[in-house]
Amino acid sequence: MPGRLRRPSAKLDTVKTLTVSRIEGLKGNLRPPSDKSLTHRALLFAAMAEGGPSRIGTPLLGEDCLSTIDCLIECGADIEVFEQSEFGDRPFAIVTRERAWTSPDIPLDCGNSGTTMRLLAGVLAGKPGLDATLTGDASLSRRPMRRIVEPLRQMGAAIMGDTPPLAVSGRQLTGIRYMSPVASAQVKSCLLLAGLSASGETWVSEPSKSRDHTERMFEALGIEVMTDGDLAVGVRGGQSLSPLDFDVPADISSAAFLLCAALVLPASNLRLLEVGVNPSRTGVLDILSSAGALVEQEGLRDATGEPVADLHVMSASNLRAFEISGSLVPRLIDEIPVLAVLATQCEGTTRIRDAGELRVKESDRIESVATGLRAMGATVETYPDGMDVHGPVELKATTIDAAGDHRLAMAFAVAGLIASGETTIHNAQSVETSYPRFELDLDRVAVRS
Ligand code: S3P
Repeated sequence: MPGRLRRPSAKLDTVKTLTVSRIEGLKGNLRPPSDKSLTHRALLFAAMAEGGPSRIGTPLLGEDCLSTIDCLIECGADIEVFEQSEFGDRPFAIVTRERAWTSPDIPLDCGNSGTTMRLLAGVLAGKPGLDATLTGDASLSRRPMRRIVEPLRQMGAAIMGDTPPLAVSGRQLTGIRYMSPVASAQVKSCLLLAGLSASGETWVSEPSKSRDHTERMFEALGIEVMTDGDLAVGVRGGQSLSPLDFDVPADISSAAFLLCAALVLPASNLRLLEVGVNPSRTGVLDILSSAGALVEQEGLRDATGEPVADLHVMSASNLRAFEISGSLVPRLIDEIPVLAVLATQCEGTTRIRDAGELRVKESDRIESVATGLRAMGATVETYPDGMDVHGPVELKATTIDAAGDHRLAMAFAVAGLIASGETTIHNAQSVETSYPRFELDLDRVAVRS
């Protein structure tokens, strides 16, 4: 049914347990869920666009993006979501901005979504007269917001709170040049969004290049994005976004679970369709290749400024340990949990370093991955900025707590597919945030003996 989307209660409130047993392979064609980063941006930019409605094809309707939709509606955007029909038509959303952004009557609940909170804060901070409070769930409430609040304050923003809740009172902002100490697309995007309403130019540089979806989408929507080398980007204030017509490709971060599972299972032949292969996101493909796996990219094409391809993968043997460090880290930051699972099946010691950011994701992903893998029989050493994983090892099924972190729940599910016995993953409801059909999709392509 078409209609404005409002949710009385989030699916994340219900506790869910996943049980997974060994299978032989993954076979067939499957389109992974749409890209989370791109869906957030498409929704937000559409709600900011001037001059007509925007159409977003195949938006991800997972909990994180639903939080973005809810927050935008509270700020006065009109968003109609047409869900997948019984005939299999793809979902789409129509976003219209008929009135100026308004102060929401209630706190803006960003749920589990750091992207929602950080990007929205950048927009709201530059809207004089608008007041809003941004809140989140227990996990988001622990995550650092100083990384955006500090530079926004340098721009003249009035924001209270260094962790959620953040109370934002919109102000006229002034552009700055900011050197971010972390490679973070959320920080970069927040400041570029604030820069659109600031006077003068706003520049952000980062230690290594993070995903560049905001820059690409800005350019597609009529914003001039200035660059200084590969690591600094800037915008001039006073530019406005045009409406968009954008089909969201599938999410390589979600595809990564299926790729890794297919590789380590003996009878796989899987094609993942319409996957976004933006080079700032394809670190996982580079690592799979260095591990000795062959993932073929077929039919490379462009989808409104984002490269898209089908990925073909088959079972692999004799996988080698790999190293993740330096500028590779932001290109695969969300895939590290499942790559750690893969590492347990590779010959040698896999080293992951320069990835301290993992400690401030939806959970402390260094400790939680290590704890879960050790419980399944793997040898893992942790470091402040990473871990060593020794392989190959035969994983044993056990009961694991996903700590309410979607990427952990799915990484452990992949471990469960190769382990002997039945793996039980508690607190797996968070899968809804990025991959609502995870179990259904696995079931559809699973080869059982
Ligand atoms: C995201 C950027 C990354 C990533 C997150 C989504 C985005 O976070 O981990 O899942 O959409 O900009 P950081 O930019 O904070 O590293």
